[in-house]
Amino acid sequence: MDLIPFYVGLIPFPKKSMDADMKYKMNPEPPLPPHYMEVLIEEEELRIRVQDLAREVTENLGERDPIIVCVLKGAFVFVADLVRKLDFPFSIDFLRASSYGNSVVTSGEVKLDLDLQQSISNRHVLVVEDIVDTGLTVQYLKASLDARGPASISICSLLHKPANNVKLAPVDYCGFEIPNDFVVGYGLDWQGYYRNLPFIAQVHQT
Ligand code: IMP
Ligand code: MG
Repeated sequence: MDLIPFYVGLIPFPKKSMDADMKYKMNPEPPLPPHYMEVLIEEEELRIRVQDLAREVTENLGERDPIIVCVLKGAFVFVADLVRKLDFPFSIDFLRASSYGNSVVTSGEVKLDLDLQQSISNRHVLVVEDIVDTGLTVQYLKASLDARGPASISICSLLHKPANNVKLAPVDYCGFEIPNDFVVGYGLDWQGYYRNLPFIAQVHQT
């Protein structure tokens, strides 16, 4: 199988159908265990879906002056694209939760490393996540934010792995349901790498 090189910003990623051989390789490769990657969700699909989500969010929160909470680090790319499709008043704040460390399997523990700057009391809150896997992070965040007396909390996640949803974490706005595989790109990382990929790719360790 041929690996397609990636030229940052110069050449658009080849548009192929989802079942085509969409292998991808960064050149030079980051210092990670041997692996190859396969595109799962293309840039154009992300763009279209983010637009749909923005429309749904606008319908529900457009007149409620919400606070959009970006869950760092993974959601930063998604949030940046999402908020640029919203044209109603809102403010944005950031928090950082971590559960994974450097591993590709969850540690089962969630920590709040960085908290919001503003009060969410009596405000409508939209929590934006990159991915809901076991649901632990979202469950923890929801409980933590709920205790601060918001008017409402809704959850928006670009990706959802329903196979792993051991904790009940209702996602109000979901971009894509994906198989139970490790993915990177569009903000999601593997040991800090690959957040810059404009698409979502599955990682296969070799
Ligand atoms: P959860 O608490 O198990 O739902 O995991 C949520 C967090 O784990 C996400 O916010 C991600 O930071 C990370 N995570 C889960 N699955 C993946 C993946 O496939 N790639 C990269 N990060 C992931
Ligand atoms: Mg995350």
